[in-house]
Formats: sequence, C-alpha cells, structure tokens
Amino acid sequence: MEIWRIRGGNPLCGSVRVQGAKNSVLPIMAASILIPCRTELINCPNVRDVRASMDILRCLGCTVEQDGDVIHIDSRTLCRSAVPDALMRRMRSSFTFLGSILARCGEAALTRPGGCELGERPIDLHLEALGALGARFEETDGRIICRADKGLRGGHIHLRYPSVGATENAMIAACAAKGETVIANAATEPEIEDLQNFLRQLGAEITGAGTSVIQIRGISPVERVGFRIMPDRIAGATLLCAAACTGGEIELRGAVKEHLAPVTHALRAMGCRLREGSSAITISAKRALHSAPLIETGPNPAFPTDAQPLLMAVALRAAGTSAFIENVFSDRFHHAEEFRRLGAEICIEGRTALVTGVRELYGATVVAADLRAGAALLLAGLSARGTTTVLDEGHIGRGYEALDIQLRSLGAELEILHEMR
Ligand code: UD1
Repeated sequence: MEIWRIRGGNPLCGSVRVQGAKNSVLPIMAASILIPCRTELINCPNVRDVRASMDILRCLGCTVEQDGDVIHIDSRTLCRSAVPDALMRRMRSSFTFLGSILARCGEAALTRPGGCELGERPIDLHLEALGALGARFEETDGRIICRADKGLRGGHIHLRYPSVGATENAMIAACAAKGETVIANAATEPEIEDLQNFLRQLGAEITGAGTSVIQIRGISPVERVGFRIMPDRIAGATLLCAAACTGGEIELRGAVKEHLAPVTHALRAMGCRLREGSSAITISAKRALHSAPLIETGPNPAFPTDAQPLLMAVALRAAGTSAFIENVFSDRFHHAEEFRRLGAEICIEGRTALVTGVRELYGATVVAADLRAGAALLLAGLSARGTTTVLDEGHIGRGYEALDIQLRSLGAELEILHEMR
C-alpha cells in the first residue's frame, strides 16, 4: 500500500518533460518476440506495467536488461509459449502476448488478463480477430490454449468495435501470417501508429495505422531493431490538468499537440490559456475556470476515456455544471464517488456524471480504485484546502514514473509513505 499525503493549495508552476508512453511500450514489448532478434527500446517509462512485461519476456526465455530509460530485449533465446496466471493477472496488456507468442511458436497458453476494474472487459474481439487468421482456442480450467496447427494465414478481420488491444493483437499476429491481412474498423489511437512504426523497423510490410483500415503483408525479418517510444499522452494530460486544477502555469516538454487535442480543446473551453508549439505545450490557468463542454468519451478521435477522470478533477471547482458521458467502459466513475468525500457536488446516473463546481474542496482520506482514478484524486487533493490522503494499492505506479518528484518540482507539497502489509 502506498499512502500519498498531499497538502493542497499551491498553484503548480514550472517546466516538466512528459514520460514515454506506457500504452505504446507494452504492445511493442510483446511484439519484440515476433522474430528472433535483438531490440533496443528508448524512452521507456520505468513503471510497474513495464516491469510486468519484462517479467513475462524473461519467463518466455528472453534476455531483458534495463538501463535507465532503455530496455534491451534479446528474443533469440525464447523457448516457452506459456505465461503463468500470476504474470497474466498483473495487467490487462499481458493479453497482447497472445498474438506474438502464437505468431512465433504456432501455439500459446495464457489465462485471462488482469488490469484496472472498469466494468466488464471481455476478450472476445481478440479471439475473433486471431480466429480469422486460422487460430483455434480451447478454454479449460481457466487456461486459454491457442493453436494455429497449419500456421497463421492472412484474412479479413472486421472488428465489431475498434478495440485497441484487439487491433494490436491482430496487427502483431498478422505479420507472421501467410498472405495479406486487412483489419477493418481498426482502432486509430496514436499508440497503434507507434506499433506500426515499430513493426516496420522489425521488417513488417504494414500500412494504414491511424486510419480504420490496416493492411499487413508479412515480414522480412531483421536481426536488430532500435526504436524510440512516443510520449505518453495521458501522462501529459495529467500534468496539464494538474496545472488547470491548481490555477498554475506549466510548460510540458516533449508532448505531441495532436495527441492531446481533445484534452487541450476542453481545457481551453474552460478558460485555460494554451500555447502549443512543436516541442512543448504551455498552459496557464491564472483566472477562474468555467464548466467544461460536454465530455463524451469514445474511441479515437473522441475524448479519451483515460483522461475523463483527470478532466473531471478540473471541473470540480469550475463555475457551472459540466456533463461527462462515459461510453467506453461500463463502470468508470469510481473517482467521482471519492471526489464527493472532498466536498465535490456530483450526480451520477448510469453512464452520465454531472459535476457542479464548488468554491472549495476540503482535504479528506480517499481510495484510488484504479490507475487514472488514482491520478485524478491526486489532482483533486492538490486543489483542495488542507491535507488529502490517497490510499493506493499500487495502481498509480503502474502507469506513472516518479509522479511525486515531478509534481514536487512544480511546487506541490506531497509525499508518499509506504505501508508494509
Ligand atoms: C486500451 C488502453 C486503456 C484504454 C483503452 C481505451 C492499453 C494498455 N490500455 O485498453 O488504457 O482505456 O484502450 O482507449 O493500451 N472490448 C470488448 N471485447 C474485447 C476487447 C474490448 O468488448 O475483446 C470492449 C471493452 O470492454 C471496452 C472497450 O471494448 O468496453 C474498449 O476496450 P479496448 O479498446 O480493448 O481497451 P484495451 O485495449 O483493454
């Protein structure tokens, strides 16, 4: 258990660099085993989910070394095709190893993945996509055994919903398939483009990522790959929202403005001043904010569900009523219930949350139910009067590298106390 103790009220000011993207490096680490080769990944965030991926790679027989923000993976020694349940449960993204192990070994044995509790998170789209490439599945005693006895063959995959994880699994597996694969209604999130860029370095012939149709025509293996992971748009959104919540002014270095457009658009509409350059975004929230425009989450290019709790933290003290509609996950308002303990006025009905800005929030003890909910509670604590304590069973460290140090460098008063259990 990590206990974050925050003394709120300081406007955050200064300059910070955004970390590498967790949601990009995880599928790329899984893809690194597609062919026997050596991979060097630069700009990797040192977060718990990345360490979980390193453990899965080692368990499969790969050699993995971490040197600062660089991860070296040697997949030539891979010798296993099964991942134990304890490793699978550590994060949702463990399931992206299904496509890559199947592609490399012709079989894979996994269990259902863990990850944030945001409502039902089925894996049917992943299985359907791989099934269209000739994979067969059996689920017994909690183990999913997947085989492609005659090898994977290219095919037409139509995703019923543009799932990020299913698109990634399909892209990776299709590289090893014979013949051409077309993925229709694919997810278009920026991390999908980063995965395509990595797969091209690995020798894959793949086009279309960033649009809803992706074509893959196989792979001409290489021996070595070097790749730089894109900046983390959700970690970037967290810092922009932290400045907005506290009436601060920050420069966010390394952020890609296009990736953050839905968030910067909403912050601007609330009264923040933003300047978006090619290498940095600056935000100033020196004047009082007003309510957000309607925030309706959805697949890219709609407002990202991961930033919904963060923007809600900004709305807590903004004048007027802000409406949030969560369309991606069925149960993603845990943070809203905790915000109420800080004095927030929120009415939840089904997938809609109405937030009416209050003049002040007051410090209290709150519980982080998932990764982004945890970050959002930190933001609310930073803008509340008095001391807020956020109890966190390790969620925040799954996705943020040294967030406490980063926030302190901007003037926040906070510390993490570790409680042994
Ligand atoms: C990824 C991100 C996560 C983000 C989410 C949506 C990573 C590691 N995680 O998660 O941070 O919140 O995209 O942008 O990149 N679904 C099905 N069947 C499936 C798969 C998904 O019904 O087989 C549903 C899910 O329950 C959910 C929706 O599709 O309601 C979106 O899920 P998906 O896009 O797959 O998200 P993840 O890849 O799990």
